[in-house]
Amino acid sequence: MSIALAFDIYGTLIDPHGVVSELQNHVGDRAAEFSRVWREKQLEYTWRRGLMRRYVNFGVCTRQALDYADQLLQTGLDDSAKGALMQAYRVLPAYADVPASLELLKQAGHRLYPFSNGTGDMVSAVLEHARIDQFFEDVISVDSLHTFKPDPAVYHHVVEIADVAPENCWLVSSNGFDVIGAVSAGMKAAWLKRFDGVVFDPWEFKPTQVIRSLDELPGQIS
Ligand code: LAC
Repeated sequence: MSIALAFDIYGTLIDPHGVVSELQNHVGDRAAEFSRVWREKQLEYTWRRGLMRRYVNFGVCTRQALDYADQLLQTGLDDSAKGALMQAYRVLPAYADVPASLELLKQAGHRLYPFSNGTGDMVSAVLEHARIDQFFEDVISVDSLHTFKPDPAVYHHVVEIADVAPENCWLVSSNGFDVIGAVSAGMKAAWLKRFDGVVFDPWEFKPTQVIRSLDELPGQIS
């Protein structure tokens, strides 16, 4: 049976808080706090843009969220610092469990897709830099639909591109809102609970599987 696995990128395969080391050069010991505000605002902007139907791509959301974090925390970053931080976003690291588990899943004959709010260009750059691009089919980006996760249209788009029955199409994501979006749209979804203390939203939608590390995924997919 052909199974397609669509992997969320930021937070699932790639660590968005990998910017902390570059941030330390600019904001010192406020780097972790800055990174948290930046990431939260970036996602909030995607949801608001989606609801308002005022699409700008994920790179623009990321840059505007960076400007917001800088203003909120009064860190006074100049254009060159902001440029360096945006560049750091293109070379974020993969989590340690990623390469070996992707290799096993690929060897098992599954088709793997990167599936992200990020543009094709951003996602390709970060996967190449992390040296995991060879495991994947073409990037599936919400950018071609001019909307963001969790709009049901983006999950239907994944199923269409993967060309499998929805029950054979899995999302793998650490982002609860993404998992809920996929399950609501008829896909299966594995929620990767990367950290202790993270809570899955107590809605009427549950993940098909909960895993603590990507290493667990090959045994959970069917
Ligand atoms: C992504 C966001 C959700 O990669 O982080 O799609």
